[in-house]
Amino acid sequence: MKLRSLRSVKLAGKRVLVRAELNVARSPTGKLLDDSRLQAVVPTLRLLRTRRARIIIATHLGRPGGRVDRRFSTKPLAPRLSRLLGAPVKTSHDCVGSAVEYAVATLRPGQVLLLENVRFHPGEERNTAAFSRRLARLADVFVLEAFGAAHRAHASVVGVGRWLPSVAGLRLAEEVAVLSRILTQASRPLVFLIGGAKISSKLGLIVRLLRRSDALLLGGALANTILQAQGLNIGKSLSEPKMVKAVRRLNLTNRQLHLPVDLVVRQANGRSAVRAVGDVGRHESILDIGPDTVELFRTVMKRARTIVWNGPLGKYEQPPYDRGTKALARAIAHSRAFRVVGGGETVDAVRSQHLEKRIDFISTGGGAMIEFLEGRRLPGVELVRM
Ligand code: 3PG
Repeated sequence: MKLRSLRSVKLAGKRVLVRAELNVARSPTGKLLDDSRLQAVVPTLRLLRTRRARIIIATHLGRPGGRVDRRFSTKPLAPRLSRLLGAPVKTSHDCVGSAVEYAVATLRPGQVLLLENVRFHPGEERNTAAFSRRLARLADVFVLEAFGAAHRAHASVVGVGRWLPSVAGLRLAEEVAVLSRILTQASRPLVFLIGGAKISSKLGLIVRLLRRSDALLLGGALANTILQAQGLNIGKSLSEPKMVKAVRRLNLTNRQLHLPVDLVVRQANGRSAVRAVGDVGRHESILDIGPDTVELFRTVMKRARTIVWNGPLGKYEQPPYDRGTKALARAIAHSRAFRVVGGGETVDAVRSQHLEKRIDFISTGGGAMIEFLEGRRLPGVELVRM
């Protein structure tokens, strides 16, 4: 897949609107928990600075729902971005309007302005022509550097492309190249580890991977729905009963599909216990994969030449139910395969154990990575495709 490159356009003195993916995880008090999405945009910003472009950054943060909600302001991101970039990052009170246009007009080549959250405007998610146009007025060139949002047909992702020449940012191009290689020419055996809560959001991916991968390992609450479809008791565990019919249409006897063989449950008294699949009590909830499953998945991964992982294998945010996820993060990190991981909690399981240097590629996309690997066309990627 060939994308229009940032390196192919004239940038000197130009106003360049960079749609970044700075939707970062924050604590309830607003503390930035992970700056990897900020780091990911830095090479593109550096290149733009070297080429003397005037840089305007747009991003969404959270889901403020088209209204101004200061808890989702992008302003607190500026100091950290500035530190990573090694240059000042100015901020603005809004992302469109005359005050912002004035701030852009006073930018000197190489200077950087971070706009306020684009999702403070209802036109962003609705992708209205009026809002796209107002954003586009700020710039001469549009750089899409938001792989994590490339599956959203929003104004700042695709809408502005109707008025501005659009190119791919360095990181977005790398994401597309790595993930495309996995789909078409990965070293085999190719093993996917897929966790997470909802089978409904990953069914398409699972169907595709059953055809394309050498082994598919499934865990997390999404596996509960599969166990339920197989007629096994899952007690009070999270599942999606509406999906049972669709799951039954999958070929669950497929030999490359591996499901949990044991589970960690929370008992009625609040304590955790390990149960064989099928032995879950009526008042128990499945919250993690068990030690035998960790061992089974580890054994399958030992043979892999490529491993792709997305989604936690249990209720990761609540120890001790993070054990399965963390153990598999270690197993992947120590494997000799080419290793790709993506998704918020998945990446956190890697970083919290300081294993990121042992992962070959950490995708900035959660939902976008899933949809791309599913073979869907992402609106943002289509915009910058040659
Ligand atoms: C993500 O974090 O996956 C992206 O920023 C997209 O966010 P959204 O699901 O709120 O559109």
